[in-house]
Amino acid sequence: MPKKQRKLKLPKGRSLVIVGLMGAGKTCIGRQVAQHFDVPFVDADREIEEAAGCCVADIFELYGEAAFRDGERRVIKRLLEGEACVLATGGGAFMNDETRTLIGKTGTSLWLKADVEVLIKRTTGRKHRPLLNQGDPAKTLRKLVDERYPVYEQADITVETHDEAPEATVERVVARLKDEMK
Ligand code: S3P
Repeated sequence: MPKKQRKLKLPKGRSLVIVGLMGAGKTCIGRQVAQHFDVPFVDADREIEEAAGCCVADIFELYGEAAFRDGERRVIKRLLEGEACVLATGGGAFMNDETRTLIGKTGTSLWLKADVEVLIKRTTGRKHRPLLNQGDPAKTLRKLVDERYPVYEQADITVETHDEAPEATVERVVARLKDEMK
């Protein structure tokens, strides 16, 4: 793990918004990157759950996906208007045109890119993601890769993550961010 730096500025002093598919490690990596730079870490899904008073799976079940997407858009807007932080977003957030435009204006986006096999391995047996709780989750992930990767590609920075210890991905992200800040 690279040595911790005190309040190192994020690129352009703006929030670092981590995007990518379910299982890419946005929360795990984002938290460690925030610790490294000594800036706050925020997880958008946790904020949505707090605002709704129930978990993501229940929001889908009770109110439907469209309501979740609307809440997601509003919560991310509020978070981006606040203090600069490392913000881990849910896999669908960057697909929303308004959210993507806002991230472009106020933050630096980082796509944590993983092969579908890695995503399948990391999400198997986890039950908190409603999109993967029905049908064939591997097939769903492959479909989402096809639909979303062309959009995730628009992120400012892309860092690959493999079947490896999180520290190895964190190291790659930190090195890349330092490069961006030169
Ligand atoms: C979703 C990803 C989830 C969560 C919701 C929908 C998606 O977050 O926001 O289940 O559409 O890809 P993670 O990417 O953090 O699992």
